[in-house]
Amino acid sequence: MLFRNRFLLLLALAALLAFVSLSLQFFHLIPVSTAKNEVSSKSRKRIMPDPVTEPPVMDPVYEARLYCNIPSVAERSMEGHAPHHFKLVSVHVFIRHGDRYPLYAIPKTKRLEIDCTLVANRKPYHPKLEAFVSHMAKGSGASFESPLHSLPLYPSHLLCEMGELTQTGVVQHLQNGQLLRDIYLKKHKLLPTDWSADHLYLETTGKSRTLQSGLALLYGFLPDFDWKKVYFRHQPSALFCSGNCYCPMRNQYLEKEQRRQYLLRLKNSQLERTYGEMAKIVDIPTKQLRAANPIDSMLCHFCHNISFPCTGNGCIAMEHFKVIKTHQIEDERERREKKLYLGYALLGAHPILNQTISRMQRAVEGRKEEIFALYSAHDVTLSPILSALGLAEARFPRFAARLIFELWQDREKPSEHSVRILYNGVDVTFHTSFCQEHRKHSHKPMCPLENLVHFVKKDMFAALGSSGTNYYEACHKEGF
Ligand SMILES: *[C@@H]1O[C@H](CO)[C@@H](O)[C@H](O)[C@H]1NC(C)=O
Ligand SMILES: *[C@@H]1O[C@H](CO)[C@@H](O)[C@H](O)[C@H]1NC(C)=O
Repeated sequence: MLFRNRFLLLLALAALLAFVSLSLQFFHLIPVSTAKNEVSSKSRKRIMPDPVTEPPVMDPVYEARLYCNIPSVAERSMEGHAPHHFKLVSVHVFIRHGDRYPLYAIPKTKRLEIDCTLVANRKPYHPKLEAFVSHMAKGSGASFESPLHSLPLYPSHLLCEMGELTQTGVVQHLQNGQLLRDIYLKKHKLLPTDWSADHLYLETTGKSRTLQSGLALLYGFLPDFDWKKVYFRHQPSALFCSGNCYCPMRNQYLEKEQRRQYLLRLKNSQLERTYGEMAKIVDIPTKQLRAANPIDSMLCHFCHNISFPCTGNGCIAMEHFKVIKTHQIEDERERREKKLYLGYALLGAHPILNQTISRMQRAVEGRKEEIFALYSAHDVTLSPILSALGLAEARFPRFAARLIFELWQDREKPSEHSVRILYNGVDVTFHTSFCQEHRKHSHKPMCPLENLVHFVKKDMFAALGSSGTNYYEACHKEGF
């Protein structure tokens, strides 16, 4: 009990580091001054805060490195861990696209030069990189749902376009795919040898970086990448809400959350001064600089070890970073207290979670279709799902983040099915709000499927505090 309290305290502390914002994330201004810490930071590479190994205070460089997720040695992962008498029934994978070129440029600075072609003599590298390129180059006959067929199948520009996946991004997902293949296909034989397109369910948003990330993962994952068996559906909404996107209450929560964010920012005069200084350096009005979302670009500088931009007026500096970072931590703390984001997340994540449990229930009934589902998505997809599941302490989705739902059957009690939830290889099943209690009463290393089903069908709406008892009611009634 004492340990648990301390653990929770540390979780809360570490949660300050896990800033969840729609698009503003971690960045920092001194490229890679921490090479000496390499070994220790690798061994600390955890997703849920680990009270034993986490740094005791917020370290922006450490956080930024986790966010970049630069491929290195194979990581430890807990996917596929189950007692021998458990059989793997289906796997549902949600990924964020890999490393990408910024979506915004810092005005009046030199365009950041990153090469988006895929070449063997550049790091990071993956043994399947060349084969991936040549296979994608032959994939022009691929039949994807419109408008996906008009997207390029791999990145290829000498100077990256805005938002384009980089070689780092491709390698991250080749590595994800290889890891999942070793566990799910080689070890657990999820797919039969004569697998077909029906065994897969593939869905991506309409951005080249998500389609390409999905293709790279599948190229690392599938035993043979047959274009006839790979069919991607197009998802127009970043929430993957398909036909159930209309939800006025969700938008209300989001607007209130954005207003909260705005008011907190106004209170921070130091932050305002910092934006002012940065704006002076690039010689534009402060408002315009803020609107240009400089963090996105600075993060890319950091991940690619390229120094931050300078002008005749000076350079963007570490002090600026510290101020903005501190503000993010305060913002995150307030976000949790006010729970407006949770309201948004519960309603935003319901449709995709509902779809996932339906797919699981079909697998339980013995159907063999769609036993491997892949959703290639964004930070704004994974973030609400994590929050809705009660994993608010989880870090903001890094590049190539993966959230996995595994469905298992107990061979000794074939009617019993269980789920495991993994975030970047870490088993977070018992951190979820639908399974925290279960652990106290059971020695099983996973959670009954019924818990997840009950959560999605009922408890999600109770957590909203609204009088609604289903999605449609909750979407139209005030809560909290
Ligand atoms: C980062 O860049 C600096 C020089 O710009 C170089 O000395 C250093 O080795 C680079 N670090 C990595 C990890 O590539
Ligand atoms: C939830 O899933 C069921 C079964 O697939 C479906 O009929 C229903 O429309 C879904 N509801 C929402 C809100 O997504």
